[in-house]
Amino acid sequence: MTNKEASGGVRYITTPIYYVNDKPHIGHAYSTIAADVLAHWWRQQGDDVYFQTGTDEHGAKVAESAEKAGKEPKAFCDENGEKFRAVFAALGCSFDRFIRTTDADHERQAVVFVEKLLKSGAVYEGEYEGLYCTQCERFYTEKELLNGLCPDHRIPPQHIKEKNFFFKLSDYAKEVQRRIEANEIEILPTERREEVLGLFKQGMDDFSVSREKVKWGIPFPGSPDQTVYVWVEALMNYVTGLGYVDDRPRFEKYWPTAVHLIGKDILKFHCVYWPALLLAAGEAPPKRIFAHGFFTVNGQKMSKSLGNAIDPLALIETYGVDAVRYLLLTQFPFGSDGDVKQEAFDEKYNADLANGIGNFASRVVTMVQKFSGGEVPVGEVSVETQKMLNRSQGEFSRALENLQFDRALRVVLDAAAFGDGIIEKEKPWELAKNKDARLPGVLTDLLAILASLVAQIAPFMPGTGEKLADALGIDANARTGQWPLPAGRALRPLTPLFPRRQAS
Ligand code: MSP
Repeated sequence: MTNKEASGGVRYITTPIYYVNDKPHIGHAYSTIAADVLAHWWRQQGDDVYFQTGTDEHGAKVAESAEKAGKEPKAFCDENGEKFRAVFAALGCSFDRFIRTTDADHERQAVVFVEKLLKSGAVYEGEYEGLYCTQCERFYTEKELLNGLCPDHRIPPQHIKEKNFFFKLSDYAKEVQRRIEANEIEILPTERREEVLGLFKQGMDDFSVSREKVKWGIPFPGSPDQTVYVWVEALMNYVTGLGYVDDRPRFEKYWPTAVHLIGKDILKFHCVYWPALLLAAGEAPPKRIFAHGFFTVNGQKMSKSLGNAIDPLALIETYGVDAVRYLLLTQFPFGSDGDVKQEAFDEKYNADLANGIGNFASRVVTMVQKFSGGEVPVGEVSVETQKMLNRSQGEFSRALENLQFDRALRVVLDAAAFGDGIIEKEKPWELAKNKDARLPGVLTDLLAILASLVAQIAPFMPGTGEKLADALGIDANARTGQWPLPAGRALRPLTPLFPRRQAS
């Protein structure tokens, strides 16, 4: 069964909500662009899509950063939350909701969710004594540490002793495990599914759902001396953003189709804790969770302290928004880790965009202008080209449905290269000089290839899709193939797509 059949044309796609302790970098952009590509593509197929991204604004980490900046937490969050929203908008992301966990509707509905947990008997009061890394906003056991340090931030965790409410994970773990094993909760890629199933074998401890010492958060229902643990509250954004309490029809329509796109760092929260919390609250777990890999920059983790975080806005200034989307999604396969070297961006930009797609498109349009009076000639698409197009449409769809973004883009580049091959072989300028009768057929093939690329390019590079569609007089987001183009249609000039860059 394909996912389309499974979702019945309705789709809900989410990204993690990002901590606002710092400004956005390309790691955050990566998850949101990927979700946007899927949202755009599904909308093209005629699906009814709800796409949500946003920011995670409560908790100790954000409160500490606000204090360091000499600001009130809310004012600090307003400023930084806006930076995330602005970056995602600048990246052309078409989210339906940008949720902030300080939004009044989220706070109100999150309280209802916690009340449901309390009513279900899944929460009990206890005392937590142990280790906490504020930078991760999570508890650690001794054996999870590396030489006594947080394995991620390499700083000593804080020793904490406080009153907490705990969630009885032990009551739900078996059912969550069963659903993962039965693929009712589908975890991808498979290595991540194995990783999660491995966690169950190690045993599952109950976890805290409140914090006593953290004041920047939602007061815990019935115990205002506590706040809801930032992670538990953050996960709830996926339901509150749909209108968990406020808009039940919308919630019921989209929630059963939920696809969470996340980074591999937050696997346990999404694949174990979140489904268990939902079951306890009487809701269905998410349908699918896809965990992607992590960028390092020149071999190092991206971080504020190393000063190596790449700013998406600076990249947009250099390459343009469409190229940034392309370059980020083609660095490495979506489920894997990869290293980013900014120098490699120039090379890839020139090879794939300037010399690849951009050059092919401009050659085709220019040749139609020169050799066919600027009009679509009367001709037929050759059997060979038609075969290639059918194959490439199928491969493209399969790749995207499986979140293989780099592979889908490879299909696009290969089709452009196929077209370039026709140009090299047939030399349309010679056919024109010799008044060869094959010329209209060759131009028809090239136009068919270019037209077929438009709807594939549009989800990845919406502006480029629009420019091409405008030149060819087609719809960038049509559901079905729009070739061959009607004979006699006058093409419009194509604005340059990707000017070549001097390699730095
Ligand atoms: N606020 C939590 C998530 C709550 S979701 C209910 C959080 N925030 S975060 O700001 O740390 O962002 C985490 C997410 O950002 C990762 O899961 C991943 O999607 C993305 N990335 C952050 N750094 C990244 C890289 N270096 N590389 C790729 N993605 C990265 O955790």
